[in-house]
Amino acid sequence: RDRQPIIAIDGPAGAGKSTVARQVAANLNLVYLDTGAMYRAVTWLVLQKGIAVDDECAIAELTSKCKIELTPTQDLQSSVGVWIDGIDVTQAIRTIEVTSLVSAIAAQSAVRQALVKQQQNWGKKGGLVAEGRDIGTHVFPDAEVKIFLTASVSERARRRQEDFHKQGQPEISLDQLERDIAERDWKDSTRKVSPLQKAADAVELQTDGLNISEVTAQIVNYYQQRLSQ
Ligand code: CDP
Ligand code: CDP
Repeated sequence: RDRQPIIAIDGPAGAGKSTVARQVAANLNLVYLDTGAMYRAVTWLVLQKGIAVDDECAIAELTSKCKIELTPTQDLQSSVGVWIDGIDVTQAIRTIEVTSLVSAIAAQSAVRQALVKQQQNWGKKGGLVAEGRDIGTHVFPDAEVKIFLTASVSERARRRQEDFHKQGQPEISLDQLERDIAERDWKDSTRKVSPLQKAADAVELQTDGLNISEVTAQIVNYYQQRLSQ
């Protein structure tokens, strides 16, 4: 074939996609692509410019013109360095303001078209672990390995709470986190364009009670098994 292999990892918020994808990429010497960071960066720019979330025309134009850059980072708290139009938004895209708006922006078809095109361009030569909601279904439907990562809502809320705690951010109750996660799951799975969905040929990995290295090892094993076939 004319490109290196691709690993696609999809799943709901807090399933462990970014942490695990980063480890798998490091392990197999592949490039890590965080597509959620791109939707977050556009959302940040929309907020920063004061554009209304339902002004799809203005958002479409903004998305087609903006320049997003992702850079590897040593910082363990952020998966990648994220830049939009030359501004470092690595931390800014993780705020509650961005998180609560991103699903509405990511549901707009013009936004998805522009970002997916960029992702496919970056992935032309393969050799990457891409993580998001629609990687196995739309972005790289011919990926060699497709993983659908899940965990219960309560487990994912617990992980998020631990994240906030470690980052020294204000406490959010488990109840609130569960509601936020369930709402975003619902928005992402029911939207018209490329909803969050397990690809028919994806392997589902339920990760309650599994730590990061256990999940990573399972994916690496599965990858090696698939490629030796
Ligand atoms: O890390 P977390 O699961 O909180 O979210 P993320 O991966 O950073 O993605 C943020 C949001 O972007 C998701 O809730 C989706 O609405 C959207 N997204 C998407 O629609 N398609 C992708 N391939 C990646 C993210
Ligand atoms: O990217 P996504 O929203 O799917 O999840 P993440 O940001 O990679 O993971 C959320 C949190 O859960 C992180 O703090 C991970 O370290 C943690 N995690 C875990 O405790 N056990 C796992 N098997 C996977 C992730």
